[in-house]
Amino acid sequence: MTSTSHLGTAIVTGHSQGLGKAIALVLLAQGWRVLGLSRHGWPAHEVAGHTGLEEVALDLSDSASLAGWLASPALNHFVRGASRACLVNNAGTVNPMGPPGVQGAMAVGQAVALNVAAPLMLADAFVAATADVADRRVVHISSGAARNPYPGWSVYCATKAALDMHARAAALDVVPGLRVESLAPGVVDTAMQADIRSVGADRFPSVERFQALHREGNLLDPADVAQRLVAHMNSNEFGQEPVRDLRQLATTPLR
Ligand SMILES: NC(=O)c1ccc[n+]([C@@H]2O[C@H](COP(=O)([O-])OP(=O)(O)OC[C@H]3O[C@@H](n4cnc5c(N)ncnc54)[C@H](OP(=O)(O)O)[C@@H]3O)[C@@H](O)[C@H]2O)c1
Repeated sequence: MTSTSHLGTAIVTGHSQGLGKAIALVLLAQGWRVLGLSRHGWPAHEVAGHTGLEEVALDLSDSASLAGWLASPALNHFVRGASRACLVNNAGTVNPMGPPGVQGAMAVGQAVALNVAAPLMLADAFVAATADVADRRVVHISSGAARNPYPGWSVYCATKAALDMHARAAALDVVPGLRVESLAPGVVDTAMQADIRSVGADRFPSVERFQALHREGNLLDPADVAQRLVAHMNSNEFGQEPVRDLRQLATTPLR
């Protein structure tokens, strides 16, 4: 099937699980072609059930291998002929948790590569590849941690704040047809939250708050968040402000 028979083409990073998988499922159900970029793919039977899905296995914390893939014609081929295109920069890590001094050079470098370099490299390549696409949208999946500091999360806070500033500055470039937004999704029930709950208070002093959110059933369902996020991404509101929180959008209420 060619891309023109679809609603549009979407690139979703970190599509293998959690929020990214939920976003990919919503887009596929709406008739988007989806290119998923993660280290792991979906199980074969799930891929078989979604003809609109293509997957590329990439370690996005390896900037050289991402640059190599971006230099190939793959992205251009995927977006060719699309009337609408979107890039969902979702892949990310909350690690390393802990204060400076215990984070580790490799872990810091990989987190910055995954959370910052990869989204910015992909945004650049996506905008170049979609020069002929009238409606193109980039959403960075940010976090409340971009806007509020947490002890133990200095790397995570700094990387997510970088995405917010990228969206703010890129919006000023007024690239034709391009909308960019950095969007915090809320506290979502994914493997990342399990990771956060499992760490000691010495590394993450706010761990009890996140354990309580889980214990009291206050984590958001990834499928609900994905529905609201994609609805917002498809709306005219998207990109009117470069930095937003999904929980505060009137059109997409979340508790
Ligand atoms: N969950 C929350 O409460 C919450 C709150 C605010 C913001 N966020 C943000 O939402 C996004 C998704 O988080 P999540 O909770 O869904 O996390 P998750 O369940 O841990 O999923 C992370 C996704 O990122 C991919 N990923 C991780 N390392 C990668 C690498 N080196 N190369 C390629 N892909 C990689 C994973 O795929 P592979 O393992 O297959 O590579 C996976 O699909 C993140 O940016 C996170 O910061 C989450």
